[in-house]
Formats: sequence, C-alpha cells, structure tokens
Amino acid sequence: MSEKNKFYLTTPIYYVNARPHIGHAYSTLVCDVIARRRRLLGEEVFFLTGTDEHGQKIERSAKAAGVAPLQFADQVSEQFKGLWQRMGITNDDYIRTTEPRHVKGVQKLFTTLRDKGFIYKDTYTGQYCISEEAFVDAAPGAPCPDCGSTTETVSEENYYFKLSAFDKKLIALIESNELLIEPAGARNEVLSFIRGGLKDLSVSRTSFDWGIPVPGDEKHVIYVWLDALANYMTAVGYGDDAKGDFKDNKWWPADLHLVGKEITRFHCVYWPAFLMAAGLPMPKRVVANGWLLFEESKMSKSRGNIVRTETILDAFGALKPELPKAEQDLFGADVLRYFLLREIPFGQDGSFSFDALVQRYNSDLANGYGNLVSRTMTMIQSNFPEGFNNIYPARFSSVTVADGLNSVLSDQWYVGVSESDETLSQQESSLENDVDRRLTNYDFALAIREIFSFIGQIDGFMSINQPWKLAKLEDEQSRITLETTLYVAAESIRIITALLYPVMPYATAQVWKQLGLGDIEVAAKNGKLKNLEWGGLKPRTKLGALGPIFPRADKGIIQIMNEMEVKNSAKAVEAALVEMAATVAPASPVTPAAGEAAEAAEPSFISIDDFAKVELRVAKVLVAERIPKADKLLRLEVDLGYEQRQVLSGIAEHYAPEDLIGRKVVIVANLAPRKMRGLESHGMIVAADTGEKPALATFLEDVPLGTRLK
Ligand code: MSP
Repeated sequence: MSEKNKFYLTTPIYYVNARPHIGHAYSTLVCDVIARRRRLLGEEVFFLTGTDEHGQKIERSAKAAGVAPLQFADQVSEQFKGLWQRMGITNDDYIRTTEPRHVKGVQKLFTTLRDKGFIYKDTYTGQYCISEEAFVDAAPGAPCPDCGSTTETVSEENYYFKLSAFDKKLIALIESNELLIEPAGARNEVLSFIRGGLKDLSVSRTSFDWGIPVPGDEKHVIYVWLDALANYMTAVGYGDDAKGDFKDNKWWPADLHLVGKEITRFHCVYWPAFLMAAGLPMPKRVVANGWLLFEESKMSKSRGNIVRTETILDAFGALKPELPKAEQDLFGADVLRYFLLREIPFGQDGSFSFDALVQRYNSDLANGYGNLVSRTMTMIQSNFPEGFNNIYPARFSSVTVADGLNSVLSDQWYVGVSESDETLSQQESSLENDVDRRLTNYDFALAIREIFSFIGQIDGFMSINQPWKLAKLEDEQSRITLETTLYVAAESIRIITALLYPVMPYATAQVWKQLGLGDIEVAAKNGKLKNLEWGGLKPRTKLGALGPIFPRADKGIIQIMNEMEVKNSAKAVEAALVEMAATVAPASPVTPAAGEAAEAAEPSFISIDDFAKVELRVAKVLVAERIPKADKLLRLEVDLGYEQRQVLSGIAEHYAPEDLIGRKVVIVANLAPRKMRGLESHGMIVAADTGEKPALATFLEDVPLGTRLK
C-alpha cells in the first residue's frame, strides 16, 4: 500500500486504576474526529485505543478493592470499552496490555534490546514515584518533582536500558522534524530534557509481580512504560512471528500518537530510543493535548473533581426522548465533541463547566446550525415538495463554495446583496480549503469558527432575501428568487454538514437524511464529503422526513447534570450502605418480655469478615485548607502511597490546616465517595471521639503510606 493512503493513529492507553471521565473521553474523541476525517478523505485508517493494565499502581488499586489484579483490570477496561461504544467511537482495535498478543510482543522487544546489547543488569538505589511509575530525581523522602506525590526509596537489582547512548540521535531526530512534536512548547520541553543529560533507564522491577516477566529471568517484570508504549506495535502484529520482522508492516510506523502533555516525554524520548535501539521505524508525529480543568485544576480521580461522560450523554440524550437510548447517547456524545473542540484551543488547557456547555449548545447548535436547518427545510418542504427545478441551480455546477456563493450573491436581481458580496470576495480561498487546512493542523476550534461564520453569512443572506415573504408572491421573478434563495441555503447546509461530519457524526447524519441525501456514512465512504463543489445538491432531490435536530436546552439541564454527578456519588454511598446492612449479623430473635421496649434488643456483634470489609490505611496529609462558607469542614489531599485523593473532614473547628500538613493519619479508604459542598470526599479520617477535640489516630513508629490496619 502506498504511504499516502494509510493513516495509523493512537490514543494513549488508559490506566485501569480509575473509571473513565471526560478528560479521557477528550483524547479519544479527538482521535475519532481525526480518524473520521481521514477516512472521508479516502485514506485507509487504523485507529487504536485500549487500556494500560500492569504495574504497581494497578496492583495496589486492585488490592485496595479486594480483587485480583486481572479481575480488577477486566472490570475497568470493560467500562472504558463500553463508554467508547456508547459514544460511537470508531476505533479499529482495542488493545489490553494483559492480552497474550501484547505480552508476546513486549517480550520480543525486550529480548531484541537485550540481544543488541542495549540492556544490562545493575543495582540501583533511587526514589521511585508510583503515581508516575517512574524513577525520579529526588532526595530520599522528598516528593516527586513532577507530580508532588511521595516517592519511595527503591534499591533493586534491575535491568537497565542504555538511554544515555541516544541523546544526540534523539536531538537530531527531533530537530529535523523526522519525529514531529507539537505544539512547539512540548517540543522545546522535550529537547531541553534531553539536553539536560539522559541517564540509563531502569526497565525491570522485582519488588512486585504484576507485570510481564522478563524472558529467562522471570523474577523481574518489565517496566510498565516499556510494556505500555509497545502496545502501539503489538496491536498491529509486532511479536506475531507469522507476521515477519515488522519492517514491511502494513501500519507501522504510526502517523500520529495523540498524548496528554504530561506524558510527552515518555513518547518523545523513551519510545523513540527503544525503537532506534531495536532498529525499528519511528512514529511520525506526537501531538500533545492540554488538560481539561474543573474549577481551575486538572480533572483527576485523586482530586475528586471529575465529570463523568455518562452524565452528559444521559442529560443531553434526554432532550430527544423520541430516540432509542443508543441514539440518545450518540446525540449526547456529539454535543460533548462539539463543545470540547470548539471551546478549547487544541493543545492548551481548558476549563469545563456545565454552564458553558449548555450556553454553547444553545447558541451555536440550537440557535445557529439547528435553526438554519429547520427553517430552510420547512420552507423547501412547503414550497418545493418535489425538490428544486433544474434550471437555476444548474448554473452553479463545477465551482467552489465561495465562487458559487459569490456568483449567486452578485446577481443583479437580488435585493441588497452588495455587502455580502464584498465580505465573500475578501475570502482568499474557499471555505473548504480553509477548514481543511485548520483540521490538518489540528486547529479544531478555528475550523469550527470558520464553518460557523459561514452559517452566519447564510443567515444574513436569508434575512436579506426574505424567502418567507417571497413565498407569498405569485410573479415569476419572485418564484425564481425564492427558489434560488432556498437552493443557496440548502446547498450551503449540505456543505456545512459535510464539513461538520467528523465533529458531530450523529447529528450531521440526521441533517443529511433530511436533505434527501441518504446515509452520510455511505457518502463519507464514497468520497462525497470531500471536494465539495458548489451544486452537489441535485435538482429534484426530495427532502427526507423533517424534525428538529437540536432542541433548545432549558437552563434546568445544568441543575440536572449537577444532581446526576452528586447522585452518582450518593448512589455509591447508598450501595455501600445496603451492602453493609446486608452483612450485619441479624439480631437474635428475642421475644420482648411484657412491658419491655422492643428496641432493647440484644447487642449485635460483627464477624471478623465484617471488620475485614473496612479498609483502614495510613495516609499522609499533603494539602489542608479551609472551605469557604463551611466552618466545620477542611479539604485535605492525602497520599496513600499508591494514589492521592481528596478527603473532607469535619475537624476545622479543632485543627488549623497548617498543623495537619505532613501529618500521618488513618483513613477509611474504601468508604464510598460522597459530595459535600460540591466537593467529593473520598474516604474518612479516623479520630477518637473525645466529646471535645477529636484525637486523630496516628502511630509512634514510622509506618509506610498505604499500610493497612488489621
Ligand atoms: N497509561 C498511561 C499512558 C500510556 S500510553 C503508552 C497514562 N494513562 S492515564 O489514564 O493516566 O492518562 C491517559 C490519557 O488521558 C493521558 O493522555 C492524559 O493526559 C489524559 N487525561 C487524563 N486526565 C485528563 C484531563 N483532565 N484532561 C485531558 N486529558 C487528561 O498516562
């Protein structure tokens, strides 16, 4: 297959220690937009996503949940997969790092690197950050310089990869843009990291065993990032001996790795170095996306400030009660896709809020695109039920969008068209080319803005020509003007809809059907959504069944989404309470003596198994602060060693926040999360209830973080 025709793109593979949230959905939906666009351009696309399931972080999370690591990974991986299906994501494969095909490939890569002399054995003592799954440059006891988590001193005999041998080659690779890194800020950061000096990299661990064994030395497991990065090749056959040496692989090298900005280094330093050492081709481009922020900080499980994608699918899906649930989800997914791509300049961090989501939906989709579609279609239906005649529209065939509009707008028999004509003639190239260029550069927000300014022009054009008035006139000139006006609007809608298809595949499919053009997926496959020449809407095309595409959303939907988020945590609390109630030993059936109150029943005991359900663990307070307008509550961020999380505690009247920072405490780690004052509390601090100042449980010995109390 020729280079030009294939496009292989990947999302990062998601850790299975947390449920998916809209931060994860963001990377996936961006890749889906790119994949759909590439397909409609006629390229053969392979779009990969999946889950990252090995490593100490996952092992500890599974332990905390009381299940085996694989069972834990099965459950969470299924949630990611299920969500992508609900959202209509068109990935071609879904890789899990626990699959045999992947394990085989990772072992092959490790063996190749060892055989080529790039891996050696040595003993190393250093600080390891479990949250980032990486050795970091920090003094013993100091926090991770990248993410602030507690580090652990690890001394192990490990295998090392000769990363230090690749600095010059990496710099040359990046400076020549043979490996293109975008945006420029990410590229500069990577270059200065390399210029700062590369140390050899530990690529195996022996202190835990949830990972892929090193071939021939099974007490070592392969470093989780070497394991994870290899997914991009193992999914397309690396390690499958029947598929040869991978040099003529149909898909490799990848054309695009889309990654979050915090993992650029892994993709632009370690990954290309492994590949160079193994003698394999380099990926072509790594593009880093920014973070979704909620209330000004990165949305993440440990902060408890996540928004679930399901909330948006459910709430916006409910605006279309006539649809089956699966289609409601696709509609909701379109709304989220549109919002994230339009609102956040790609590559930068961006804030998410339900208010902004609803405002954009109403202004751009319900009032803008949706309104143009519905009023145009209704007028065509009532005035030209058999479709347009073939006389006037035929004049516009074989011209570009801007040409087409210009020629219509400048016709003498139009009323007041001169301003529009001028605006249009200022366009240096056609809309399609502009949008295309923006999309190729991943400037989604600008591409969408171009499309919506075109929608604005068509709205203006309709206001000037007033087809609703022309429809009441019988003379021939008015009929011609009416028909041409509506044709221009309908043809513009066809072009707008084709351009918006990768962003909103479900909604545009509905508009396409209403235009009488059939199935948009078929059109995409047949090249009908590219080279959008003016005049593609043929005369005598009858419209499909009409109906509103984007019903207006009431402000109440914001409240509903907030409640859904709270309820979701409330539901978890409720489920935990029901479970607890079910396991409490039933009181022995006593018959109350005459006159004795029924509530004076026997005291009930719990079994050791009941106690085992309560997971008490040692944690360290990293952050403590007051919550505005909440006198009793403190917001704490605690470190459990394997993860950090937010806990709210009602001790503000007794402890100053600064006295708690750095202090080790005991928390109920498996208490269902709940929301208080809009913040999620994920656990509870244990204290002796003295009736006055609660005494926080603590230890005289130095106990490692995360240790369980039994
Ligand atoms: N497992 C590694 C990636 C290995 S790739 C070989 C990992 N997983 S992750 O689940 O922590 O993150 C996966 C992706 O989700 C990252 O690109 C990350 O940036 C993205 N996001 C997680 N939270 C996010 C936001 N709040 N906002 C935007 N993207 C974020 O890293």
